Amino acid sequence: MSTKRRVGVLISGRGSNLQALIDAAKAPDYPAKLVLVVSNVPDVQGLTRAEVAGIPTCTVNHRDFPSREAFEAALDEALGGAGAELLCNAGFMRLLTESFVSRWLNRHLNIHPSLLPAFKGLDTHARVLNAGATITGCTVHFVRAAMDDGPIVAQAAVPIHADDTEESLAARVLAAEHRLYPHALRLVASGQVTMDGERVVGMLEGADGTYEVALFSPPLPGNF
Ligand code: GRF
Repeated sequence: MSTKRRVGVLISGRGSNLQALIDAAKAPDYPAKLVLVVSNVPDVQGLTRAEVAGIPTCTVNHRDFPSREAFEAALDEALGGAGAELLCNAGFMRLLTESFVSRWLNRHLNIHPSLLPAFKGLDTHARVLNAGATITGCTVHFVRAAMDDGPIVAQAAVPIHADDTEESLAARVLAAEHRLYPHALRLVASGQVTMDGERVVGMLEGADGTYEVALFSPPLPGNF
């Protein structure tokens, strides 16, 4: 019997992070299986990526619903129907209500292209460059109701070059995102991280097979 955790993915567009998860999940030892991809925008590239990979898809268009709650009830119904246990936002561009967030508490990940808690929100790379930052990166965190807020599961740092444009920086960070998201989902799906209050901590396996809490979740190996 498969012990893989069943994962739903929420998207709104291109789906390159979804593709990174699809590719990672092909490994026999990957602890998660993508069981449904839901887009709130019809006909996006991410839906095609899922179809090509043989993953069930559906579109739940927020414009078709009278309220945020009704939209989210439809999301929940689709995810419940697929038996999703974990949820990943991958370029999902809708804010979710406290009620939805609490139903998926500590089972719901988001990726953001900055070193949170710096540079939350949109137009991240332009703001990073305008601020004169020399290092940026990406963050996978558990979702909370506030935008790009929540306990950090994993981060990758990315250098900023003097001649970077918004586009060149976005491309460098995106390459890091594609390595980071599969790593973070692996940590969560395999139980290698746990919560200590509102902080994510790692679980260290001792020689005797017992686990103890480590200070940080295991970092992504390698540099950018
Ligand atoms: C990524 O940069 C992600 O961090 C942000 O939106 C972008 C989505 O890109 N939340 P994609 O759809 O995964 O290609």
